[in-house]
Amino acid sequence: MTGVPPAQLLGGEHAPVLRNAAIDSLAIRADGCYVDATFGRGGHAGEILGRLGAEGKLVAIDRDPEAAAAAAVLFAGDVRARFVRARFSALAQHVAPASADGILFDLGVSSPQLDAARRGFSFTRDGPLDMRMDPESGASAAEFLAGAAERELVAVIAKLGEERHARRIARAIVAAAVPGREPGRHPATRTFQALRIHVNDELGELERALPQAVAALVPRGRLVVIAFHSLEDRIVKRFMRDGARGDPAWAGLPQAPATARPRLKLVGRAGFADEAEVARNPRARSAVMRVAERLPS
Ligand SMILES: C[S@@+](CC[C@H](N)C(=O)[O-])C[C@H]1O[C@@H](n2cnc3c(N)ncnc32)[C@H](O)[C@@H]1O
Repeated sequence: MTGVPPAQLLGGEHAPVLRNAAIDSLAIRADGCYVDATFGRGGHAGEILGRLGAEGKLVAIDRDPEAAAAAAVLFAGDVRARFVRARFSALAQHVAPASADGILFDLGVSSPQLDAARRGFSFTRDGPLDMRMDPESGASAAEFLAGAAERELVAVIAKLGEERHARRIARAIVAAAVPGREPGRHPATRTFQALRIHVNDELGELERALPQAVAALVPRGRLVVIAFHSLEDRIVKRFMRDGARGDPAWAGLPQAPATARPRLKLVGRAGFADEAEVARNPRARSAVMRVAERLPS
């Protein structure tokens, strides 16, 4: 099946990171059922659709209303594809247990989200400090800042931004007051990262979604996750490692109950973008892809 429009026709460009590696890792069967849990502008989803035959199915999820609009264009008239506007932590409500042959998470925000000043994700563009992936739900970054005690702000910036100057920044909370240090990096990078992760509960979303994704996979189904910072990659790495180990209390014992047996098999090592991709798309620099396969229970 062809005729998938390129991402730049869908209201902003997003270059899908590790596109081929991620799609290859899903090991797509033409008649399989796949889930793209982070549709964005459909870069990966379009590629999945391109590899599916007439019997294949794709469920795409995103909480962003602009992603929904892009999906309406990409999926128009394609009965194989279904878009769900939801948090991916609600995956189990939209994907039946043991029904998916592969699930992809390409975490974080898309380039069009970052580039639109009105979304407030970027410190290089003037706009309201919103930062919600779903601007119709929850508190914006500005609302959070207005109501947060200094102590809470320090904790968010230190933990989610891994920012050692959290205390000083929280006190000043003006990017100009942040001491510059890492060459080539804007001094507000870590603070903005922290606010974005907090406002969207990104780590909580991921922790809740991963077990649901495993439950939604068929035996031998693939889970592919691309993370963009160490906090989320740590969650993915531990989740896959623990899933591949099973309950250590039963390790090596023959009568382990189903719940204690390993549920996952690790597939390959962590994957990274090569120099050529990073040169084309600097966002790919921090990408880490991990892949696991669901074991029969
Ligand atoms: C990096 S972009 C995905 C780009 C996409 N793979 C592409 O090629 O166009 C991440 C997307 O995931 C969405 N997203 C992030 N966290 C989410 C969550 N917890 N629930 C639903 N969507 C989420 C964001 O709104 C964003 O559109």
